[in-house]
Amino acid sequence: MTGLSSLTTAQLEALEAELARDFELQRANRVKLDLTRGKPAADQLALSDPMETVLDGSFLAADGTDARNYGGLRGLPEARALGAELLDVDPARVICWGNSSLTLMHLVVDTAMRFGLWGDERRWNRHDRPKLLAPVPGYDRHFSLSASLGVELVNVPMTDHGPDMQAVLNLVRGDGSIKGIWCVPKFSNPTGCVYSDDVVRALAQLPKQAAADDFVVLWDNAYTAHDFDFPGIDLLPIMPEADREQTADHVVSFASTSKITYAGAGIGFVAATEAVLRVLEGRMGYFSIGPDKVNQLRHAKFLAGRLDAHMAQHAALIKPKFEAVEAALREGLAELGVADWTTPRGGYFVSLDTRPGLATEVARLAAAAGLSLTPPGATFPYGKDPDDRNLRIAPTFATLDDVKVAMKILVLCVKLASLRGEISTRKESAAP
Ligand SMILES: Cc1ncc(COP(=O)(O)O)c(C=O)c1O
Repeated sequence: MTGLSSLTTAQLEALEAELARDFELQRANRVKLDLTRGKPAADQLALSDPMETVLDGSFLAADGTDARNYGGLRGLPEARALGAELLDVDPARVICWGNSSLTLMHLVVDTAMRFGLWGDERRWNRHDRPKLLAPVPGYDRHFSLSASLGVELVNVPMTDHGPDMQAVLNLVRGDGSIKGIWCVPKFSNPTGCVYSDDVVRALAQLPKQAAADDFVVLWDNAYTAHDFDFPGIDLLPIMPEADREQTADHVVSFASTSKITYAGAGIGFVAATEAVLRVLEGRMGYFSIGPDKVNQLRHAKFLAGRLDAHMAQHAALIKPKFEAVEAALREGLAELGVADWTTPRGGYFVSLDTRPGLATEVARLAAAAGLSLTPPGATFPYGKDPDDRNLRIAPTFATLDDVKVAMKILVLCVKLASLRGEISTRKESAAP
């Protein structure tokens, strides 16, 4: 096949008939495949099973804390050091708490909204309609978390190097109700892009340029260690930049070991300046007497000095799945010119853009052929992709063989939807 526009309508129709036959054959296979699940596969989880025995009955932390007992809201020093390594910050700026960074993001947005992050009157709910910027496509749970707390989302375009900073500046300079921006700076969900140094610097300056005096950069570094090749890609650390710009009180970072050890039984991290940590700790004191420090100790002992080696083991398992996705898209779609996709060098997702208006149809066809895709629109606030073109591919959980079959189906569905779209556009424009 060559680019669609160079084919005659008769050629398009012949091709459509051929693909429709392939599609029916595929449907008859009655497969049940799933590319929706952005979670580690069982073989990845098994990499951390030796963690089970690492404590060997010894529960004392380096500072003498008995990990089995109450207390220590900020977490054990060695666990905070692990968070500091992940987030490229001083361990004194890290709280390690709970099994999930999402909980900590909820705490931060809720605190910013109702109490303020700085112990003064700067609460987001001073405004009737506080808003956060959402680089799109982005992570659906950032959007639903914000909306559930009464914060509206405003779309800004994502580029290959991070959010479109000119668009961001235009918005934040003139509107004091815009209180912050969600960022996934390394291997962004779903595009996989890594923010450039210029974008990181521009984001560190942003709280000074924003009309809001309570602007916060929400730095969700969920995939900081999740390179496919080692040594990994260096992301410019934002905190030293923010320190230099004197905006550090307005940057809050997050990470977890969900996709390093166990998704569901990992440990979560939040990093910020002392002023912000004090306020967060105050809020935590109302719902916790201390985190699960036994799990913190286990993690610290298991990962100390071998984070990259451990992540390289993950990479060996998942990189072939991403290569299979890329090969299927390149071989199936490149010549046709009907889709764009990302080729991430780490993380958990590939972002696929169909021709405008076709993502829903592709997902419908895929479902009919036994392949579940993340619902189109999920990568946009309120589930609304204005162009109906973005699809998120999550290849880690399925087996490599299943990824290959699933991608064959997906490519077929994209081709079929694109051909049908082109045929009907031509018919419409030919109509008197
Ligand atoms: C960007 C991003 N942040 C956070 C999370 C969830 O992290 P946690 O398990 O630490 O709550 C995910 C999970 O997919 C994610 O993609």
